[in-house]
Amino acid sequence: MTIDDKPAVMQILKTTPEFTPAEVVVAEEVLDIYLHDPSGPDYKVLVAEIGSSIKGYVCYGPTPLTDGTWDMYWVAVAPGEQGRGIGGALFAAAEEKMKKARGRLILIETSSKPEYEKTRRFHERQGYELVTRIPDFYSVGDDRLTFQKRLPQS
Ligand SMILES: CC(C)(COP(=O)(O)OP(=O)(O)OC[C@H]1O[C@@H](n2cnc3c(N)ncnc32)[C@H](O)[C@@H]1OP(=O)(O)O)[C@@H](O)C(=O)NCCC(=O)NCCS
Repeated sequence: MTIDDKPAVMQILKTTPEFTPAEVVVAEEVLDIYLHDPSGPDYKVLVAEIGSSIKGYVCYGPTPLTDGTWDMYWVAVAPGEQGRGIGGALFAAAEEKMKKARGRLILIETSSKPEYEKTRRFHERQGYELVTRIPDFYSVGDDRLTFQKRLPQS
């Protein structure tokens, strides 16, 4: 992702109904940290482009104070473009980078709300398994789910 891609990525975030306005604010803060210093240690961002148009993005990074664990922080595909393999391609590209950086374990946190049902199915399709649930974490009745995937070591 470059600074020129930011308006398109923000448009995707703002038009994704699953994201609350507060979540969009946090997603933008993270993008700005990355764009200020793309080679910084904490966040990496990749965009998916078809022609010259941005259709989705993924943000990931090494989990602080771990040896080889990475977080998949954020992924979004433009609402009209979902279900065409773009999210899968973004995950594959990010996982390839993590493997090259000697990552061994990838974690994703998500919500148990019904709106995230398709997202949970997406994670499972990508080979992630549900490993923890913290009841009422985000709000009463909204649990935090953690999915994980182990990367093969070469
Ligand atoms: C989750 C998300 C990134 C997946 O990207 P995608 O490009 O739609 O996914 P792909 O086309 O690569 O994979 C399709 C699979 O994902 C699942 N899926 C998730 N959302 C879907 C959607 N809106 N339409 C179709 N399939 C969807 C399905 O299980 C599908 O597999 P199947 O067709 O074999 O059942 C995207 O739907 C999205 O941006 N959702 C809203 C934002 C979100 O929930 N982000 C994650 C939390 S940060």
